[in-house]
Amino acid sequence: MSSLATHYSARDIEARILAAIRAAGLDPEQHLSPEELGALDHFHTGGLRASRELLELAQIRAEDHVLDIGSGLGGPARLLASTIGCRVDCVEMSPDYCAGAALLNRLTGLEDRITVRQGSALALPFADDSFDVVWMQNVGMNIADKRKLYEEIFRVLEPGGRYAFQEMAAGQVAPSHFPLPWATEPADSFLVSPDEMRSALGGCGFIAEVFEDTSDTHLSRTLANATPAMPGRLGLAVFVVDLAQKAANARRSLEEGEVRLVRGVFRVN
Ligand SMILES: C[S@@+](CC[C@H](N)C(=O)[O-])C[C@H]1O[C@@H](n2cnc3c(N)ncnc32)[C@H](O)[C@@H]1O
Repeated sequence: MSSLATHYSARDIEARILAAIRAAGLDPEQHLSPEELGALDHFHTGGLRASRELLELAQIRAEDHVLDIGSGLGGPARLLASTIGCRVDCVEMSPDYCAGAALLNRLTGLEDRITVRQGSALALPFADDSFDVVWMQNVGMNIADKRKLYEEIFRVLEPGGRYAFQEMAAGQVAPSHFPLPWATEPADSFLVSPDEMRSALGGCGFIAEVFEDTSDTHLSRTLANATPAMPGRLGLAVFVVDLAQKAANARRSLEEGEVRLVRGVFRVN
């Protein structure tokens, strides 16, 4: 099983999402708010809070046209579209995530502001200079060809456009605790150090506006707020198998310095 897809078909994912929403006491026929879904559909380190913080850093405006790469179930796209009012195009490799995202866009009444396309980050199905902002959270760890990835992001951004992201980066030694949320085994994981990331982005013509290592902040916050998963609560376990083990391994990898959590906003030169 690839680390990029869920273990479920598109139809099963839709059914699982609807069942989880009802089990959480929500009515899918009433318009759901992106906030209510936040524990389910922000599939990255730090969840909804991390998305809100990145949104602040990126200073996205209502008139911006945003591309979310590797958009998963589309929680970040819905946060942007609902709080800022901007248009968001999503590109996502896996048809199961695309189906789940389209369903949730409909249930939140945001399908007029968000489109979802199946496609690859390495061959973005968009013309040059199409976007003001490219957004990407916890996706690059699955992509070996960073140069091609950053060239594609640069290509679709307008002059002056911004690339806002968060990623896991390589630490002092290679990850040793598997499975991780992004990699069942070492062959699935493509981490570069923060310095290599900055240099690869610079080589493609990006200038750093913000680039920070948030590992320690993240660890201290999650320690303070650690709450066990509750039955009937919405959460990533609806579509991620072995979630508890993967999350524990990710945390241990951060604590032991095998991985680092970084985020940034880079501008097209
Ligand atoms: C950890 S999830 C993050 C989802 C979403 N960005 C979020 O934060 O909620 C990683 C997503 O990236 C997608 N992905 C990985 N490699 C990709 C690629 N080369 N092109 C497009 N999507 C990709 C996966 O299918 C998965 O949905």
